[in-house]
Amino acid sequence: MKKTVRVGIIGMGNIGKHHAAYLRAGGVARCELTSVCSPSPWKLDSYKPIKIFGDPAALLESGEVDAVILATPHYQHTTLGILALERGLHVMVEKPISAHKADAVRLIEAHRSRPNQVFGAMFQLRTEPRYLKIQKLIRDRDLGEIVRMNWIITDWYRTEAYYASGGWRATWKGEGGGVLLNQCLHNLDTLAWLLGMPVKVRGFCQLGRYHSIEVEDDVTAYFDYSNGATGVFVTSTGEAPGTNRLEIAGTRGRVVLESNRLLYTRNEQCMTQFSREATVGFSKPDVWHVEIPFENAATPHATLMQNFVDAILDGTPLIAPGAEGLCSVELANAILYSSLLGASLDLPLDGGAYETRLNQLIRDSRIEKKVVPLEADDFTKSFHR
Ligand SMILES: NC(=O)c1ccc[n+]([C@@H]2O[C@H](COP(=O)([O-])OP(=O)(O)OC[C@H]3O[C@@H](n4cnc5c(N)ncnc54)[C@H](O)[C@@H]3O)[C@@H](O)[C@H]2O)c1
Repeated sequence: MKKTVRVGIIGMGNIGKHHAAYLRAGGVARCELTSVCSPSPWKLDSYKPIKIFGDPAALLESGEVDAVILATPHYQHTTLGILALERGLHVMVEKPISAHKADAVRLIEAHRSRPNQVFGAMFQLRTEPRYLKIQKLIRDRDLGEIVRMNWIITDWYRTEAYYASGGWRATWKGEGGGVLLNQCLHNLDTLAWLLGMPVKVRGFCQLGRYHSIEVEDDVTAYFDYSNGATGVFVTSTGEAPGTNRLEIAGTRGRVVLESNRLLYTRNEQCMTQFSREATVGFSKPDVWHVEIPFENAATPHATLMQNFVDAILDGTPLIAPGAEGLCSVELANAILYSSLLGASLDLPLDGGAYETRLNQLIRDSRIEKKVVPLEADDFTKSFHR
């Protein structure tokens, strides 16, 4: 029985280097970083004696790895993911699993016929105790039936220098979208994981409102769920200081996550039952106020990688299976497509129709990017809880 998983990283930019750092520091048990790959391999000399590749296909065929982390720009998640699966490797793909739904379906299909290979997605918010506690409140029915969700997540602030730092960033051709597909994709995954998918979406996206970019950097979206619950999701990369406030209301109470505090207000009686049975007009169910304590996950990316390695070696269930990455891609695409069409969209989204529209945006693009590398900066400040 194999005792160690040999991992390679393809794409050694911000997040690729972060994955390499905790893997080299022994942050994931029974896992060894054996290979890294970049189109500029000469910049990776400091990683020696780890094997260095300039061509992803060469790494995939090298026999040096059992598994790969794909940390490249979005479109390559699909092409390299399929190639890696075809080579018999386990795959951990960075978010989003693909730039659009049709590509995500192609990637998931490539895995379907290879169930013995582990396919995970890097949705590290799923390891954060704060979201696990909200998930437990929902699962245990402490909130009763969910009636409403609001998430204002406008503190994904990014500067012009950030967008100028990579040729692929904030372009239809390179990234496939803006704040929806990149920064707040984590939040869209968390929403789908907590509440399931809405049945209808209406999006209002402003393209390049705050930055010289062609993709969306400010979004308001409305969701309808099958049980009649509604949701509003607001996000931006241009607003400072910005807000991060998630509120989920149910018939038995409400939970609010804001400013690192999780507050649960419990209705002593179900609100709809109270309304039916009350003989007075202006009273409400009595409430309890509870502050739910939680720790911050110390190393969320490493925790998810440990789970991936445990899945390979022991068959441990994945926290974030790759196939579940379809939901956040679909939500991001549907919000944007709805905005472009000026109409609500029923889900599931027609992935082929959206791909055609995205290809049109790519053809119509007039953006000319001048890439300016970022000054040394602490990339980990971009990690969001
Ligand atoms: N999970 C997280 O917390 C998190 C954080 C940041 C970024 N991401 C995701 O990680 C991915 C990369 O983002 P980033 O910020 O590191 O971008 P980046 O631009 O800093 O790095 C991407 C790297 O990929 C390399 N690359 C491009 N094509 C390649 C190829 N064919 N083979 C090998 N390398 C190639 C580029 O040279 C670059 O170094 C994106 O999908 C992004 O959404 C996830």
